Amino acid sequence: MEPVPEQPDGVRKAILRHGVSRRSGSRESTPGGIRSRHSSGSSRGSRLSRRISRAFSLRRGAEVLPVRDLILLDSISEENVVTVLKKRFQDDQIYTYIGSVVVSINPYKNLSVYDDNQIARYRGGNYWDPGLEPHVYSLTDAAYSDLRFRGRNQCVIISGESGSGKTEASKIIMRYVAAVSPGGGKVDEVKTKLLKTNPVLEAFGNAKTVRNDNSSRFGKYMDIQFDYHGNPVGGKVTTYLLEKARVIRQNNDERCFHIFYQLLAGGPLASLHLQSDPTQYAYLKAGNCVRIKGTNDAANFKEVQNSLKYLGFSENDQNGVFQVLAAVLLLGQLQFDGQGETSSVSSIKSLSDIAKLLNGSPKKLEDGLTHKTVVVEGKLVSSPLQADKASYSRHSLAKTLYERLFIWLCGRINENLCVPDDEVKAVIGVLDIYGFEIFSMNGFEQFCINYCNEKLQQLFIELTLRTEQQEYQDEGITWVEIKYFNNRIICDLIDKKPSGVMALLDEECIRPGNKSDLTWLSKLDQAVGRHDHYKSREVAKDRTLPQDIFILKHYAGEVRYTVDGFVDKNTDTLFKDLSQAMYECNNPLLKALFPEGNKDLWLGASKRPVTAGAAFKTSMASMIAELNAKIPSYIRCIKPNEKKRPNQFDAKLVLNQVRYLGLVENVRVRRAGFCYRVPQDKFLERFKLICPHTYPVWSGTVKEGVNEILLYIGILADEYQFGRTKVFIKNPQTVFRLESARDDKIASVVTKLQRAWRAFVIRRQRGSYVEEILQVFSKVKDDPHFGRKFKWPRDVPRQLLGADKNLKKIHANWWADKKLSPLSADQRDALRVKVYAWRCYCSEFRERDVQADVLQKPLNLAQAYRAIYATHISGYEQKSRALCAQYHDSKIRFASETRKVNRAGKLDKRVLLLADKHLFKLDTKFKVTAKRIIALHSIRAIHLNKTPDTFVVLKLDEPGKDVVLDLGASAENRLGEFVSHLFLACRHSGNNRVKVNVFDGAVEYNNSQKAAGARPKVLTFRGETEARKSGEGVCRFQRQTVFYPSGGN
Ligand SMILES: Nc1ncnc2c1ncn2[C@@H]1O[C@H](COP(=O)(O)OP(=O)(O)OP(=O)(O)O)[C@@H](O)[C@H]1O
Ligand SMILES: [Mg+2]
Repeated sequence: MEPVPEQPDGVRKAILRHGVSRRSGSRESTPGGIRSRHSSGSSRGSRLSRRISRAFSLRRGAEVLPVRDLILLDSISEENVVTVLKKRFQDDQIYTYIGSVVVSINPYKNLSVYDDNQIARYRGGNYWDPGLEPHVYSLTDAAYSDLRFRGRNQCVIISGESGSGKTEASKIIMRYVAAVSPGGGKVDEVKTKLLKTNPVLEAFGNAKTVRNDNSSRFGKYMDIQFDYHGNPVGGKVTTYLLEKARVIRQNNDERCFHIFYQLLAGGPLASLHLQSDPTQYAYLKAGNCVRIKGTNDAANFKEVQNSLKYLGFSENDQNGVFQVLAAVLLLGQLQFDGQGETSSVSSIKSLSDIAKLLNGSPKKLEDGLTHKTVVVEGKLVSSPLQADKASYSRHSLAKTLYERLFIWLCGRINENLCVPDDEVKAVIGVLDIYGFEIFSMNGFEQFCINYCNEKLQQLFIELTLRTEQQEYQDEGITWVEIKYFNNRIICDLIDKKPSGVMALLDEECIRPGNKSDLTWLSKLDQAVGRHDHYKSREVAKDRTLPQDIFILKHYAGEVRYTVDGFVDKNTDTLFKDLSQAMYECNNPLLKALFPEGNKDLWLGASKRPVTAGAAFKTSMASMIAELNAKIPSYIRCIKPNEKKRPNQFDAKLVLNQVRYLGLVENVRVRRAGFCYRVPQDKFLERFKLICPHTYPVWSGTVKEGVNEILLYIGILADEYQFGRTKVFIKNPQTVFRLESARDDKIASVVTKLQRAWRAFVIRRQRGSYVEEILQVFSKVKDDPHFGRKFKWPRDVPRQLLGADKNLKKIHANWWADKKLSPLSADQRDALRVKVYAWRCYCSEFRERDVQADVLQKPLNLAQAYRAIYATHISGYEQKSRALCAQYHDSKIRFASETRKVNRAGKLDKRVLLLADKHLFKLDTKFKVTAKRIIALHSIRAIHLNKTPDTFVVLKLDEPGKDVVLDLGASAENRLGEFVSHLFLACRHSGNNRVKVNVFDGAVEYNNSQKAAGARPKVLTFRGETEARKSGEGVCRFQRQTVFYPSGGN
């Protein structure tokens, strides 16, 4: 038995996510008939129940009301179900629920229920929300949410007969998923690609039939692949059995595949050797219908071209495809002449056009069409074909060519769209497969299609009826068995080995000797003649039945199959000569389509090709296995009338569908059953946090724990039952209440967990940071640089940034202490001055009064700062001491020869002495005059230029008294040292206003006697490469311009 999902009736939305639950978290509701029994739960609950019952419009006398969910019907019967569907249909309410199954009736008109506003309404909604009408959107939203929040693979199984709206529903699902999933960039591209597969697959795989103008003539299963964020990242299309017989023949009022008409209406006809009139082609006119009302083939062709392009088909690829299509059409035009046992092609033009299109030789093509090669006792034996056989063989080629092109096309789409499994978290599969078909003439194709529908019905029964009831019994739940028709008996009749219809057909196809459709029929009569679901003229002794038919009583009704063509279609082999003719064309596409045409492989090939029936059966089995491995959702499509008209409801037709779709049984099981079941331990695990008695630790038995939770939350006794291992909950609303309560609790639990986790992470990070520091600095004392070059941890945890900064500071101080302690007091003083100079002139340092951060002043800090450079002047010691004594200075801090810019703009030699309180700019004889003494407290600012010159402007408080000095007079740059000494001396003398300003390009000063009124003068600076003349100093000065050595620029 296949695994049963936990919640077959899908209350997945309820058991999912915070958003939904929170939004409607306070809603406390019970549905329908159960409502009255439960309404005493709480006053809020009863109010809501009344509201819900109004919204669900349950009862009005004996009248059957158009309930939104058929399980709310007062009395369940086929008639009542049809009545509800009819009433809703007349109100344009085409969707109705049976629990979470959506019943959909084709409106045959455009309804305004699919626009963006509607999508927004259903997004994150609940299917039992009375404000939301039943909709495919709800079902899709539930599936998508389950995928996103529980990571489970989903599938939506859409069933119903031809023309009931399956394909439309599948497109609605895809559009909804594209709209509600996150988007942007590559994801949007994927979404567009997914949607673009539809026009292509429909053009090549759909056709007009009497039942449906856009009938899918193939089965389609499409996985939409999602990543961990719920983004669609890819897709994979699987197709099942294309009705290839349609290529060559159509019933009256039917068309061949759309793409042929589209190609003639909008394709490059001249290059394809085609003409625009479809009635000129044997393969297109058989159904006497080449146009579909309201369909624009030319526009559709454009759309197909665009979509192909988007899906990665180059212009070359597309041309290759169109050429094969044209060749198929022209194959239908070929005429054959018979010459006894041999034949030849009489329509030479068509033959040569085909050869041109396929890039092959007309001769080889003709040979292929008119001969048959077989392997006899290990040898290739070729024989000619008579004209009728050759004509038949040509049809086979046309069908196979088209079928293989279709499969190749799907393969290419997958190559472009499908992403590897490791990039996919989960998928939503959408199955849109041909509906059950009953035509006046039913052949092998209808047989396969109807078998497929039997298998799907079987799956539906398994999941919604049989397994569910079985589970209630196994779990010991009080349950009244509900009868339903299990179609397994029909599936067995068809696919059981060795005596099923398919097995007998295979046997007939491979046995040697004379075999025909009729010999197979008589075998069927013998083997399954007594089966309740099989009938034929012979076994029924009914002379009114034709001789060449058999009847299968499918779950959806009796179908008469004409045996004609069964053996041939099942054998499904193409003569070797044709595969070879295709393979040998100079056309890579054909080589890919006909690999078996490679003659070298013929003699080696021992395996008998798989029959079409067996291949289909295998593909059905894998499809069912695929669906079984996912959480299913169902859309049951119903066709309201046979005329494809809006607003017409044929009750008889609908009743038939309601009957065979098993909707009434579905309603009964659903209504009597439970929407949610879960092993008791899992329930406890999930919901224990709701109840303070069970959370965090519950020490009683599991069942007691579950009971405790249900009591605590106030769930009434008839809302749930305990099975042997599971607990069963009746209504989704109850699950919703549980989930809501859990959601509310989860927020606080999550916060706690997050806090604990963060603390843990910080502790861990801190630990590793500290460890790293300890390791790096373990030998810091022995390091000659005292750790100066050690590498600090790079990844500092955010929380430790402050600590990291402090540690670096502590280390820097310790390092400085280590470096300074061996120095003498004088050495320290010199170092201090130097450091200050460095601070002044390097941009890294920003001190309040030093605007050196923007502009750097390059100074040779490498040179030793000796401070007193005047000892060579005769009598310096004595004179300077006398000077200090006279002006109450304690000592000379800096002494050097210098040059001063005089009022005339010339340089005068001076000796510069910086004492504690004064700056003396004396001549070499140390003659003191008042104007040569500057009190340090009168210095307002020290102005420099950023160039590597040696000039400084001292700005004094008194206007017109600015002093311009050159500290490079003795060919050594002493500017940095002087400025540092001066700045520090000013500070020490109490002048805290003094500022150091570094300018860029020009420095103003005013040393004119006229003081305030005078225009300031400007020192400009220019680099030059010329060497200084001796005695000129570091810089040359001329007309207010300082020329400094610029090293070559
Ligand atoms: N929801 C809808 N709204 C409007 N028109 C619809 C809707 N569903 C179906 N139709 C109409 O019915 C037609 C047939 O529907 P669709 O092709 O989906 O049927 P189907 O079940 O896929 O049939 P088949 O088994 O033949 O492929 C559509 O072409 C469209 O005109
Ligand atoms: Mg379809």
